[in-house]
Amino acid sequence: MENFKEQIAVILEGPTGLDREEIKLLLEVPPSPDMGDYAFPCFRLARTFKKGPAEIAAKLAGELGESPLLARVSNAGPYLNFVLKRSVLAEDILSRIREGKQVYGSSSRGGGRAVVIDFSSPNIAKPFGVGHLRSTVIGHSLHRIYTFLGYKAVGINHLGDWGTQFGKTITAYKKWGSEAQLKRDPIGHLLQLYVRFHDEEEKDPQLEEEGRYWFRQLEEGNREALDLWQTFRDLSLREFQRIYRLLGIEFDSYQGESFYNERLAGTIAEIVNKGITRESQGALIVDLGEDMPPCLLRKKDGATLYVTRDISAALYRFEHYRFAKALYVVGADQVLYFKQFFKVLKLMGLKWADRCQHVPFGLVRFKDGRMSTRKGKVILLEEVLNKAVQLSREIIAEKNPSLEDQETVARQVGIGAIIFGDLSNDRIKDVEFDWEKILDFSGETGPYIQYSHARICSILRKEAPSAKAPVMGEAYTAKEEEALLLQLGRFPAAVERAADLNKPSVIARYLIDLARDFNQFYHHCPVLKAEGDLKQARLLLADATREVLARGLYLLGIEAPEKM
Ligand code: ARG
Repeated sequence: MENFKEQIAVILEGPTGLDREEIKLLLEVPPSPDMGDYAFPCFRLARTFKKGPAEIAAKLAGELGESPLLARVSNAGPYLNFVLKRSVLAEDILSRIREGKQVYGSSSRGGGRAVVIDFSSPNIAKPFGVGHLRSTVIGHSLHRIYTFLGYKAVGINHLGDWGTQFGKTITAYKKWGSEAQLKRDPIGHLLQLYVRFHDEEEKDPQLEEEGRYWFRQLEEGNREALDLWQTFRDLSLREFQRIYRLLGIEFDSYQGESFYNERLAGTIAEIVNKGITRESQGALIVDLGEDMPPCLLRKKDGATLYVTRDISAALYRFEHYRFAKALYVVGADQVLYFKQFFKVLKLMGLKWADRCQHVPFGLVRFKDGRMSTRKGKVILLEEVLNKAVQLSREIIAEKNPSLEDQETVARQVGIGAIIFGDLSNDRIKDVEFDWEKILDFSGETGPYIQYSHARICSILRKEAPSAKAPVMGEAYTAKEEEALLLQLGRFPAAVERAADLNKPSVIARYLIDLARDFNQFYHHCPVLKAEGDLKQARLLLADATREVLARGLYLLGIEAPEKM
C-alpha cells in the first residue's frame, strides 16, 4: 500500500506545508477498517498552525476537495481519515495479483538472510507418531512462508538417532531380536524390543548396566555396535521417508543427533572454557540460576545428552548458515528444556543466542478411540494418513464418480484435510482430531478450501477472462464484490503476520474467510451469466481468487487440485 501513501502525500503537501517524505512517515493505517484506509495525525501541525490538532483536522477535512483517488476525507478528533475509492483499490489489488512484478503476497523483506527451521525430527527405532505430524506440517509450512518472504529457509530434520536408548536397543536386539522380523517390520520390532527391555529391566537390574555398556561402545566407535545402529537407522529412515513422500515434504539436511558425535568433546571443552560449568557427583553441569534446574552436559559414566548434542548443533548451524533466526518446532512439553538450552548459549556469551526460538505446539487428542493401535498407545501417523486418503476416495466415488485420476485427487484431498485440520488451529492449543470434521466439505476444512478452488477452476474452464481485458475498478458495485476484493487485499499482510508469529494458522484462517467471501460473491453475483464488461470483471475477480487460494494452500503445504 506504499504507493497510496505517496499519492496522499502529494495531496497533503500543499495544505500542510510539510514535505512528502515527512507526510509518508506520519501516515498510519487505522486499527479498524471502518475508520478509513489511512489516517493522518495532526499533532505535528499544531505549532505552525497555532491551533489545536482537532481544529486543524476539521479545517483540512473541509479544504480537501474532490480527488480521483479518494472517496472521502473526514476528521475524527486529531486525525484526518482517508477512504480510498473502492474502484481504485480494486484496480490496485487485481493488477498486483495479475501482473505484479513479484508473485502477489511475496516480498524480499528477508533479503536472503538464513532462517534455520528444525522440524519433524522423529526418533529412530520408534514409531512416527501423530505428535511428530504437528512438527512436520508446521515446520514445512514455515519453510515455505519464509522462502516466500525472501529468506533463505533451511529445513533440518534433527533425527533422534543417538542417545543412551540405543545402548538398550542394541542389548535387547542381541538378546531377543530376529533379523527376519526386523526386515519385515523394523520399527514395530524395535519398539517391541525396547518395551521388553523395560519390562525385564525391572526384574533384572543387570540389564541396565548392559545397556549403558553398549551405549559406551557406540560412543567409543565399536564396530559391532555401530553396524547394528546403522541398520536400525537406515531401516527407520526408510519408513519415515515413506511418510514424507506422502506429505510431499523434503528436508535440506538430515543431520541428526549422531552427526554431532565427533564435535561433542570440542563443544564441551568450549563450554568449560567459558568457566560456566562445574562437577557435581562426577557429572558435568551448568547452573542456570534460581528459576531453572541446572543443565546436565555429561553424566558420570561419560555419556553425553540430548542437550549436549543440541548445543553442538546450534554452534555448528551458526557457523554454517549464519542464521538470522533458528526455529525449533517442537512440542510444548519441551518448553523448559529449550529455556535451559538457550540459557546455556546465553551464558556462553554467544551474541546470536537470542536468535534461537522455540516454536511450541499443543497435543493432538482423538475424538474417538478408533485410530488407536493394538497396543493402545501410539497412533501411527501412516495409518492416519492412509485412512484419510481412503475416506476421500470413498467420498469422491460417491459424489463425483466420473472424475478423472481419482487416485491422485484422493491423495491430495485426504492429505490436505489432515494438514489443514492441524494448521487451522492456533499451534499452541491442543488439537482435537475428529474424522468427521476434517473431511467435511462445507466446514472450516482443507477440502472446503480445495473445493472452492476447484469450483473456480471449473468456472474458468467454461470461460477464461480475456488476457487483454483491462482491470475495471468501477465494475464492482455489489457489497459481496467489495468484501471479496478487500479480503484479497489482505493476503500479503496475512502472510507477514504468519511469519511474525510463526503461525501458519493465520494463513489457514485467512483462506477460510477468503473461500467464504468467494462463495458469497458467487451466490449473489452471476459470473457466466453476466454480460460484457461486467462478466469480464467478475471472471477476473474469480481468477484472482483462484490464484490466492492456490498460493495460500501452497504455503500451508497443501495441493490444490483443479477438479474434484
Ligand atoms: N527427537 C526429538 C523428539 O522427538 C525432537 C528433536 C527436536 N529438535 C531439537 N533440536 N531438539 O522429541
